[in-house]
Amino acid sequence: MESFSDDILQGLRSTPKYLPPKYFYDEAGDRLFQQIMHSPEYYLTRCEYEIFSRKAPEIADLLQVNLSDFDLVELGAGNCYKSRFLLAELVRRRFPFTFYPVDISSNVIRQLNQTLPVEIPGLQLHGLNGEYLRMLERAQALSDRPKVVLFLGANIGNLPKDKTGEFLQKIHSVLNPGDLVCIGFDLKKDPDVILAAYNDAAGLTREFNLNLLRRINRELDADFDLAGFKHFPVYDPVNGACRSYLISLRQQQVHLKSSGEHIAFEPFEPVFMEVSQKYATEEIPMMAQSNGFQSLTIFYDDRNWFGDAVWRVEK
Ligand code: TRP
Repeated sequence: MESFSDDILQGLRSTPKYLPPKYFYDEAGDRLFQQIMHSPEYYLTRCEYEIFSRKAPEIADLLQVNLSDFDLVELGAGNCYKSRFLLAELVRRRFPFTFYPVDISSNVIRQLNQTLPVEIPGLQLHGLNGEYLRMLERAQALSDRPKVVLFLGANIGNLPKDKTGEFLQKIHSVLNPGDLVCIGFDLKKDPDVILAAYNDAAGLTREFNLNLLRRINRELDADFDLAGFKHFPVYDPVNGACRSYLISLRQQQVHLKSSGEHIAFEPFEPVFMEVSQKYATEEIPMMAQSNGFQSLTIFYDDRNWFGDAVWRVEK
């Protein structure tokens, strides 16, 4: 709780202002995100669902060719909408493994612990609620088996581009030579298609962003007027960054009573919420290389809109 308050205040005191996206996922945020994933404009989930639903046997083959024994760790598992095809395939093959889903939302982990073992009978599951790296370390401490780390949903794109290398190197340092990672990348495509995915007509993404202000109001006893802010996503087709902002529609002050702080907003002052990076296919093996991984393959959907890359930790 302390860190929620500190992180929010740090973001709101900065110039330009920002809010850390890991706090999007309270109960209402989880629900909105599930709705976004099923919205007509949000193609990412459908593309990756296509990959896993059609290619789970191929993916399982690749993992098993490279590792005779492994546990599966999924960073940001959500409801395992896509990974469950791979889980079911491995269970069907009677491959002995434990699944460690990691999620920042305690709500999500509680749900998974209850439902997944029923939906995939025979699945060994140990949910971990917390941050990616700390929970990956926990999984390493809990089991001696080699690891396959799933990092799906284009979540890697939510890291600022200059932090991606650092993050991959940290993952690398927690893993052992020969371990595998499978990372979902959203690929560059028609800019209108990309922008629409973050600006759905039903306003779900807008609500999802505003929900963080609602959470701050509730948990930090603040008085954000949600009508005083508008959701504004932009996509830069050159660098592939899709960024979301909340724009203050007028001059206003917000009082965070829990800390006694007043934050002033200028008219049209932006609050940076999140980046969602889109990649060119050629960038992916280069990224593997420069962070100590060997790129094995990329699985694509039929339109080549999305790619799940499998990398091996180099010896
Ligand atoms: N990682 C996904 C993406 O980049 C999901 C996501 C994260 C998202 N934050 C979001 C989707 C905000 C919509 C709005 O798209």
